[in-house]
Amino acid sequence: MFLKFTVLCVLLGLVSLSAGYVITPNIVDGVPESLDIATAPFIKIGENYYLIETKRANWFDAFESCRQKEADLVAFESLEELQLVSQYIINNNLTAFYWTSGTDLAKQDEHVWFSSGQPVASDLWREGEPNNANDEEHCDDLKIQPERGVGLNDKKCSIKGPYICKAPQPKTASFIVW
Ligand SMILES: *[C@@H]1O[C@H](CO)[C@@H](O)[C@H](O)[C@H]1NC(C)=O
Repeated sequence: MFLKFTVLCVLLGLVSLSAGYVITPNIVDGVPESLDIATAPFIKIGENYYLIETKRANWFDAFESCRQKEADLVAFESLEELQLVSQYIINNNLTAFYWTSGTDLAKQDEHVWFSSGQPVASDLWREGEPNNANDEEHCDDLKIQPERGVGLNDKKCSIKGPYICKAPQPKTASFIVW
């Protein structure tokens, strides 16, 4: 990727030298709607790209499976992001409990997103969670119950469930030739 970008820059440099154009590179987050890029199997919800995987896997398997797709088991950076994804799932009749990358396997009672190392924000949990029921719940799922709200819940890691992968944020590079 970086090499291709470098080669492109060198070529554009030659063009600008020979034709007298000024070429300005421009890199922005995300993909403009106007480009109509195919992102399947990832879908855009809000500003991010996700794969809502309905195949069931235990937490470790789900983590590996997302990595194999050059993505990560999801980490929600805000309550707004969690709610946007939940609403998409509800609207598409895919209501279930989905694995996220949240876990306290490293340090008990300190839930972190295993994909980013960042702490799980305290406002993302369902009421009364995480409760480490039976002292065996160390992986976090997004529990969606339209009638009772949405939020994170800790669950036994070996349980098989659907899961959500999140792709790294794409960037768009363009060149202004003037
Ligand atoms: C979801 O289910 C409802 C009720 O069965 C149906 O009317 C609606 O078309 C479904 N939506 C999608 C996106 O499948």
